[in-house]
Amino acid sequence: MNSDNKLRGEESMGIGKVAVIGSGIMGHGISQVVATAGINVALNDISDQVLEKAKSHIAASLDRGIQRGKLTEEDKKSILGRISYTTDIAQAVKDADLVVEAAPENLELKHSIFRKLDQYCKPEAILASNTSQYSITELASVVANPSRVIGMHWFNPPVAMKLIEIIRGLETSDAVLNEIETFSAAVGKETVVCKDSQGFISTRVLVAMRLECYRLVEEGIATPEDIDKTLRLAFGHPMGQFELADFSGLDIEPAACEALTKTFGDRFRAPQILLHRVKAGKLGRKSGEGWYKYDK
Ligand SMILES: NC(=O)c1ccc[n+]([C@@H]2O[C@H](COP(=O)([O-])OP(=O)(O)OC[C@H]3O[C@@H](n4cnc5c(N)ncnc54)[C@H](O)[C@@H]3O)[C@@H](O)[C@H]2O)c1
Repeated sequence: MNSDNKLRGEESMGIGKVAVIGSGIMGHGISQVVATAGINVALNDISDQVLEKAKSHIAASLDRGIQRGKLTEEDKKSILGRISYTTDIAQAVKDADLVVEAAPENLELKHSIFRKLDQYCKPEAILASNTSQYSITELASVVANPSRVIGMHWFNPPVAMKLIEIIRGLETSDAVLNEIETFSAAVGKETVVCKDSQGFISTRVLVAMRLECYRLVEEGIATPEDIDKTLRLAFGHPMGQFELADFSGLDIEPAACEALTKTFGDRFRAPQILLHRVKAGKLGRKSGEGWYKYDK
């Protein structure tokens, strides 16, 4: 990997092998996208059971692609053949050119993973995090060479969403940024780049909009149904904010609000109407009820 990468056009020549840490909602989707682009991926998680689940989610998603006529059985076979599964992080990352960390949103956990990456990866490997809010500079503080650490924020579901938000830590090098832009294009995604700042672009804008929707309900001005309908029909959003919150899970929101409030003040404080729902276990689709009710 070197700074000539920016001259290489859209094809990523430097990244031939990727490791993904965490095989949950994001990690298995990211692995599928990378393998579909013809690149080998090692997917790592803490148990074989979880990895089996990821494997079946990927196979089911590829089957949907076949049903829609976008893939053939042969494509499915070769994509699946490019993904390996292991609970051994050292094994997963040892020859990776790029590692995408997609473990749960917990700073201590992410730091412990980055310490391991520092120990087991090739010195020239790029270390990316899919964090939705943690400072990339802070994540990079536990590795010997922070210039190789970068934020690579994918969106849910990674297979369908076109954007990757790239976050540049204080010490991220130009070469690493160029390589990640090139790689993102090679796996079929568009990119935006922003400086390391709480909530980046997407989380900051999303939370601001969502909290205003929650306040409209809290003040008794409108129902979730009508606010979602407004967002869909007046602004062309594919989903309303209440529908989207239920899809992603309400339990991740209080921590995001707290971190944004620490940085930007009261405009990001979580409203009672959200906190009470989370305390009552109404977490969205996964619990059967959030802002809306779902058949289990
Ligand atoms: N879900 C979303 O909509 C979304 C969107 C963008 C970014 N993100 C970010 O992506 C990251 C992952 O989110 P997710 O929704 O996929 O979470 P998830 O809970 O679905 O998956 C996390 C996976 O990491 C595994 N894991 C836990 N500890 C591990 C360890 N030490 N080593 C390896 N694997 C480990 C878990 O077993 C789990 O399978 C988070 O930082 C989150 O903020 C999530």
